[in-house]
Amino acid sequence: KPRLYSGIQPSSDSLHLGNYVGALLQWRGMQDEYDAFFSIVDLHALTNAAFDPATLAAASRGLAAQYLAAGVEPGKSTLYVQSHVPAHAQLAWVLNTITGFGEASRMTQFKDKSQRFGAEGTTVGLFDYPVLMAADILLFDAEVVPVGDDQKQHIELTRNLAERFNARFGEVFTVPSGSYPEEGARIYDLQDPTSKMSKSAATDAGLIWVLDEPSVTRKKIMRAVTDTGAEVRYDWGTKPGVTNLLEIYTAITGVSVAAAEAEFAGKGYGDFKRAVADAVIAELEPVRARALELLSDPAELDRLLALNAARASEVAEATLKRVYDAVGILPRG
Ligand code: TYM
Repeated sequence: KPRLYSGIQPSSDSLHLGNYVGALLQWRGMQDEYDAFFSIVDLHALTNAAFDPATLAAASRGLAAQYLAAGVEPGKSTLYVQSHVPAHAQLAWVLNTITGFGEASRMTQFKDKSQRFGAEGTTVGLFDYPVLMAADILLFDAEVVPVGDDQKQHIELTRNLAERFNARFGEVFTVPSGSYPEEGARIYDLQDPTSKMSKSAATDAGLIWVLDEPSVTRKKIMRAVTDTGAEVRYDWGTKPGVTNLLEIYTAITGVSVAAAEAEFAGKGYGDFKRAVADAVIAELEPVRARALELLSDPAELDRLLALNAARASEVAEATLKRVYDAVGILPRG
């Protein structure tokens, strides 16, 4: 089976709806066709200015529970913690040596984050974030990388690095492609539907968390910003709030945009929001319940992660060996 790779940072207790729709919903449906690796990218999380050493381990375990609860099946796919496989950091170093300083400086996510994090938070690690991400993907010879569309530029960099390495040192890497959901590749903040839903939002009111109580989720959706009109119509230009809710609704239910518009024709925003809230809660409530249940047995989760890290290590070590050989490093005798 062709390989698939993706990951999410353990940077808060709960995933938000953007992560869920942009990444996890895709993953679940692709597990049968691909040999999938899903990582909890804790080394990436260290680059966040606000990261907290007191909560990182719990966030990693919590993310594993949410992967499983959302339908990642350990019999089919490998889910593991990035730092448990040292080859990630080792390959990132080699890739650093073929990454242009200017090329890395052009990453828009780096520019956005460095503006938010300020001079002190703008570390070499933050700058290097996309190179470590490229290492994640290339270590596993992934053909496909299901992510939200904010990751497009990082995937492009990964492809460039793979091609550059292959041209200089021989065919070592598989050149990967991104996979982006048709609906929900970018979910926006419910209170500010022109900025993407993100953990760094100024207020929590526009974010739906997978582990929120259903009553909280309903309240947030009912209070979502819309516009002064009354028509449920897909139009980012004049109706970003309504369109964002339509995007969420169609991504979760699988209904087409046209069918959803027809469903709510002649109805008010109140009815529409109630339907969106019902759909989101019907999707997330079982995930939340299952994740909390899994978290009641942390030892079992840790055991599973150790087992999966061993499997991931085998693949990663073999790739790293190919890389070291290609660049001419003396093998340890
Ligand atoms: P992270 O944790 O920032 O985001 C995890 C995933 O969630 C998607 N996402 C969204 N999708 C739709 N709408 C949104 N508002 C939204 N916000 C976030 C992201 O696109 C991503 O798919 N750099 C990666 C983590 C990573 C990775 C990798 C991914 C590290 N190594 C290797 C794939 C392969 C990231 O964005 O994490």
